[in-house]
Amino acid sequence: MQEKPTINLGLEGIYFGESRIAMIDGINGRLYYCGYSIESLADNSTYEETCYLILHGRLPKGEELEKFSAMMKESRDIPQNILDLIKDMAKTAMPMDILRTAMSALPAYQKKQSGNPDEENFAESINIISKSTSIIAAIERIRKGLDYIKPDHSLGHAANFLYMLKGTAPDSKHARILDIMMILHAEHGSNASTFTAIAAASTLSDLYSAIVAGICALKGPLHGGADEASLSMLYAIGEPENTSTYIDDALSGKKRIMGFGHRIYKNYDPRARIIKKYLEELEGDADEKIRKLAKIEMEAEKIMIERLGKQKGIWPNVDFFSGPVYLSLGIPKEIFTPLFAASRSVGWCAHVIEYWKNNRLIRPLDYYSGEIDLEYKPISER
Ligand code: SDX
Repeated sequence: MQEKPTINLGLEGIYFGESRIAMIDGINGRLYYCGYSIESLADNSTYEETCYLILHGRLPKGEELEKFSAMMKESRDIPQNILDLIKDMAKTAMPMDILRTAMSALPAYQKKQSGNPDEENFAESINIISKSTSIIAAIERIRKGLDYIKPDHSLGHAANFLYMLKGTAPDSKHARILDIMMILHAEHGSNASTFTAIAAASTLSDLYSAIVAGICALKGPLHGGADEASLSMLYAIGEPENTSTYIDDALSGKKRIMGFGHRIYKNYDPRARIIKKYLEELEGDADEKIRKLAKIEMEAEKIMIERLGKQKGIWPNVDFFSGPVYLSLGIPKEIFTPLFAASRSVGWCAHVIEYWKNNRLIRPLDYYSGEIDLEYKPISER
């Protein structure tokens, strides 16, 4: 029998490929998309411009951004077949499962993009990115017994999502904050869902299948599902004065505090720092319930940093402060993770297209520790 090799559970610390899309400095808590710091993009860019950057590796010129944004707008509306599917599933299924299924069904009702592989890939990427927010808005309205609202092409991507969700155009502050939230969630290197999408694509499957694989992986509470799980934790804590006891009980029971910790960041997640800033900005005009959630978060942040920050490198991550921000924008918790998927769809598409340029089937090893050459006995003798 082969000697037992070193096993890197969860592929921890393993480089499986090379990329020019995101650089994550986990020690210093820094993040760059194609060379631009996340802070500079959050301050100056839009989600559409950031999508162009992530897909093409450079910022667009004026007319390029106009053309890209126009293509995004043309792709927003969703086919009646998908609306019918959403209507049918909305009675029993959760939004993330409906999004997964709708994305899986989408290609059946889309005319095949024509052109060379690159053009087809970019056109399909734009279709996926643009339609995913429309699908989520449709899911939320239909599950609440409301009608689907068609897109408003006078609005940018984030503002149009809020319009399709609520039926009224958002104020510019809310639209801008959601735009920034989508930029912050757009891309993050080879995280579990992006790696899953790449692994699916590495068999030379198609882009839609890879994105569906990414949605499946993102759903879990150890990954994208932590944003909803973190808010549920805040509700469970209930009052700011309960925070310390809740955290101590959880930690002594070896439970995870949702929204904290990261495989790469052993410092404050730079995205969490930015989201916290906007939470403080929104707090002023938020209702009492949201203000209380924010107070619990600030208390939990202080306690967790004291107890586990420096000692174990466990700091707030992108999912911690997101909940109350989304609630302040009128976005219910059941569509937090679907919205994360919609924002991250550009990162998934970009990494799949990049990987296909130097494709290698992903097929790691596992160490077999069972027995071999067992004698097969007829069932009457077992
Ligand atoms: C995202 O990878 C990405 O880039 C992901 C993401 C992206 O943009 O794509 O950044 C988005 O998924 C952010 C993470 C969201 N998940 C959560 O907030 C869930 C809570 N966090 C943890 O489950 C955990 O921190 C992970 C899963 C995120 C990372 O865990 P690791 O790297 O596998 O670390 P580990 O489980 O081996 O933990 C190491 C130690 C353990 O203690 P010991 O057994 O050594 O005593 O740290 C402890 C853990 O118990 N620990 C925590 C903790 N996270 C780790 N203890 C309490 N609360 C936590 N949140």
